[in-house]
Amino acid sequence: MALSTDTLGELREIAARYPQKRSGLLPMLHLVQSSEGRVTPEGIEACAEILEISPAEVSGVATFYTMYKRKPVGDYHVGVCTNTLCAVMGGDEIFTRLKDHLDVGNDETSADGKITLEHVECNAACDYAPVVMVNWEFMDNQTPDSAVQVVDDLRAGREVRSTRGPALCTWREAERVLAGFPDGRVDEGPSAGPASLLGLGIARERGWTAPDAPAPAAVSGGDPAPAVPEERAEEPRATAESGDSTTKAAAVEEDAPTSETAAEKKEAD
Ligand code: FES
Repeated sequence: MALSTDTLGELREIAARYPQKRSGLLPMLHLVQSSEGRVTPEGIEACAEILEISPAEVSGVATFYTMYKRKPVGDYHVGVCTNTLCAVMGGDEIFTRLKDHLDVGNDETSADGKITLEHVECNAACDYAPVVMVNWEFMDNQTPDSAVQVVDDLRAGREVRSTRGPALCTWREAERVLAGFPDGRVDEGPSAGPASLLGLGIARERGWTAPDAPAPAAVSGGDPAPAVPEERAEEPRATAESGDSTTKAAAVEEDAPTSETAAEKKEAD
């Protein structure tokens, strides 16, 4: 089905934001998804025509990134992280339970058209594992039971909030935001939770700071500056006496034989 006049106008509006208009392709594809529920052949043709590139080039992008869908997505996209940390913390069980509960396989939509279930890769929220994403909003520290409750509430039309605050919108609404049309809710919820800020708190407590930026000479081809200034590189050793777990690891590493000493030992044997 052809795109509406409004959608075509907004696609042109996105392209016009960029000095090189083809830079607008990613948000344009999100807008197509918001309007059509997926990346349709007509959407690909429209993007190609506006950007003056070939449909094959647009299709190549749309099939490369996993956030672009060629099959219709339900009202809510539920992504269960089954990457390493989430998997061992229960992500695999959550995914299996949701598959059974919704009677769908991976990347399939429930019969009522409400939920599309997909296992997703790490969303950089490992400190809250296992994590479920609903339309790319975080549902932290989930269990099989809590995940079932989330999808049941969504299917029943009850308001569901991300564990970080914002009320969940539909997938199409979320796609419109990703296309660069704000919904005015960007400041809902915290920007980072306690688990994500723990390392920062420890660094502040101990007076750690980031290393200085490399000297300009290193950038322009002079002697390369050390990646870590010497005084910083010494820090773990200096605190090794304090006996914390980080520095114990450093001490173990220090005791480990180098490949040279191991080779020497073998020769000696
Ligand atoms: S492994 Fe799941 S968010 Fe990183």
